[in-house]
Amino acid sequence: MSTTNPPPPPPKLKTRILTIPPSSPLGSWSSPNSLQTWTLPPTPLIPPSLTLAATALTTSTASSFSTPVAFPTETVYGLGADATSSTAVKGIYTAKGRPSDNPLIVHVSDLSMLSTLSTIPEIYHELISKFWPGPLTILLPVPTSGQLLAPEVTAGLTTFGARMPDSPLARALIQLVGKPLAAPSANASTRPSPTKAVHVLEDLEGKIELILDGGDCAVGVESTVVDGLCNPPVVLRPGGVGIEEIRQVKGWEGVVKGYKDRSEVGEGHKPRAPGMKYKHYSPRARVVLFEGHKPVNVGKELEGGGQKKVGVIRTGEWEGLVGETEGRIESEEGGFAVRQGSLRDEEGKELATVLDVDLGRDVKGVAHGLFAALRELDRLGADIIFVEGVSDGDDIAAAVMNRLRKAASEIRP
Ligand code: TXA
Ligand code: MG
Repeated sequence: MSTTNPPPPPPKLKTRILTIPPSSPLGSWSSPNSLQTWTLPPTPLIPPSLTLAATALTTSTASSFSTPVAFPTETVYGLGADATSSTAVKGIYTAKGRPSDNPLIVHVSDLSMLSTLSTIPEIYHELISKFWPGPLTILLPVPTSGQLLAPEVTAGLTTFGARMPDSPLARALIQLVGKPLAAPSANASTRPSPTKAVHVLEDLEGKIELILDGGDCAVGVESTVVDGLCNPPVVLRPGGVGIEEIRQVKGWEGVVKGYKDRSEVGEGHKPRAPGMKYKHYSPRARVVLFEGHKPVNVGKELEGGGQKKVGVIRTGEWEGLVGETEGRIESEEGGFAVRQGSLRDEEGKELATVLDVDLGRDVKGVAHGLFAALRELDRLGADIIFVEGVSDGDDIAAAVMNRLRKAASEIRP
C-alpha cells in the first residue's frame, strides 16, 4: 500500500485591512481625454499602504507560496495577483476555492499596459472610448506567440477578458505593480460578491494577508462581459453597463444575449461563459425570489417551515412588514437600514422575527445594495430571505435579476 502523505494544509495567515483615505493622491491621466498613460504621483506622496500592497504583489511571485491582495474597484472588491505569473495566479484559485476552469479577468491601469498583452480589434474602439475606465470587460485574442499572461488566467481558452477599472485606487495599484492584475471578485466561491472590505474579511480571513479598504463599491454588481470577436457580438454576463447602452455603439446594434439566467436554462444546455455553471452569489440563508411584484404573504410562506428569522428585501412595491419605529439594527450613509420586528398571527402570537430591508425603487440603488443586503441578513442569522425582484430591463436591472436568479433556491412568478 502506498504511504504517500497528503500535502500539508496551507498555513493560516494573519489578515490585515489597510485603509486608503479617500483624499489620497493616486495619480492622473497624462493627457486629458486619453486613456493611454496613468501617471502616479511622486513617490513620497503615494500612500504607504498602497506601496506595501504593491510590494506584496511583486515579491510574492518569486516564492513558491503566494497570496493575492484584495483591492476595491467600482464594481466589487477584486482579489488580485500578477497576471503574468503562474505561481501568483494559482494563489487566487487556492484562496477562493475557485474551480480552475473558470477564467479570470485581467485588469490594466491604462491602454499602454493593455497593448503589451494583445492588439485591440476595431470593434472595441468606440466601446472603450465610451465605457472605459468602467464596468465593462472585453474579450481579446490571446496572441499565438509571445503571450505574457500565465496560462492559469485564461484556463486554456484562446481569449482573455480585459478591463480598465474606474477606480483610481485600483489603477494606481496596478501601475505601481507595473503588471496587469488578474482579479476575480474577492468572495469565497459561491458567496455573494464583496462590496465592502469587511465582506472580504468575512470570506477570506486567514487565507490572504492584505485587504486594501477604499470604501464601498459604487456600482455594486460586477462588470458586463462582452465578446466582440464573433458575429453578432455577444453579452456573456450582464453587469454595470446596460445592454441598451452597448446597443447604441457602432457595430454593436445587433448585440445578442449569450447568457441564460437559471430560470431559462434547459436540460443539457451548455453554458458559454464558464462562470455560469456554478452555484453563485448565495448567502447561507435560503433565497426565494419573487419575479413579479406580487405581494408576498410571509405568514403563509412560513407555514410548517419552522424558520425563526426571516429576511425580506424589498425593491419598491412590497409593503414594509416592520414599522418605522421598530428596532433599527443597522443604517448607513447612502445605504440601507435593516429593521427588526415580529410577525404575529391573529391572536398576537409571534410566528417569526422579521428582518426588513428596503433597497428603494431606483435600480442603481438596488444594484449598489444587493450583495451587502444578502450578506447583512446572513450575518443577522436569517434562515430564509424573500426577495422582491425588479422589472427585467436592458439596463443594470438585467444584472440584478441575473445575480438574484443564481442566488435563489426557488423562483416564483
Ligand atoms: O467587475 C468585475 O468584473 C469583477 C471586478 C473584481 O473586476 N471581477 C469579476 O471577476 O467579476 P470574476 O472572476 O468573478 O468573473 C469573471 C467572469 C466569469 O463569469 C468568467 O467566466 C468570465 O468573466 N470570463 C473571463 N474570461 C473569459 C473568457 N476568456 N471567455 C469567457 N468568459 C470569460
Ligand atoms: Mg465572481
